[in-house]
Amino acid sequence: MKGIILAGGRATRLRPLTKITSKQLLPVYNKPMIYYPIDTLIKAGITDILIIIAPDYAGQFLNLLGSGVEFGARFTYEIQEEPKGLADAFRIGKNFIGNDDVTMILGDNIFDEDFSKKVSSFKGGATVYAKQVTDPERFGVVEFDQNMTALSIEEKPKIPKSNYAVVGLYTYDNRVVKYAENLQPSARGEIEITDLNNIYLKNGELTVNIFKGLWEDAGTFDSLLRVQNIMAQKHQESLKELQK
Ligand code: G1P
Repeated sequence: MKGIILAGGRATRLRPLTKITSKQLLPVYNKPMIYYPIDTLIKAGITDILIIIAPDYAGQFLNLLGSGVEFGARFTYEIQEEPKGLADAFRIGKNFIGNDDVTMILGDNIFDEDFSKKVSSFKGGATVYAKQVTDPERFGVVEFDQNMTALSIEEKPKIPKSNYAVVGLYTYDNRVVKYAENLQPSARGEIEITDLNNIYLKNGELTVNIFKGLWEDAGTFDSLLRVQNIMAQKHQESLKELQK
């Protein structure tokens, strides 16, 4: 299983902070944001990781993260010239992925969860996770029937059919490379991950796990502040545990 961290984009919503560095390098309490998705992949047993970055601050990522040896991992880098959408990662990552399966995590998605069992038991198709949120219109939203079987996924719907948001960690079999190549841009001009997920859904090959753990998309001032406070509190708690 290969890993991809998508840390591209211009993050205009976080200006002026992102006029001096990349969103994924901003602090989340005591670490740069990207340390969290790196940690999530490594905990899941994935150490061969492609980091996709925007051209603007590419050097800062290399300075900070290097080869990955300090993390017990191997990092490869690719530049995403334009923010063309999440599914573009599987076009950029084609050679890196080779013949393997792949788990992608978004560089601004912060989890406190061990995905190792789910990742090691992956047997093909696609696996995504859906969490109940109060602001589903910000996300990909899953529609379920009474038996909690997924019927559809809609990207940022104005009138969401549920409050289950698709979180930013996805596992795909190798066909994702071919599917991503054939996608057409959406109305907002992006190659959508939701379109990829809907291909697997239509084939009856999409597993949607209900996710109850900690997850934040740190892409807005409010969610960034929220996750900073959560991580600060967790840090204090773990220090107290150590002193016991
Ligand atoms: C992206 C995806 C969306 C998903 C979200 C998770 O949204 O398009 O389906 O729910 O990540 O963070 P974006 O971050 O591009 O707004």
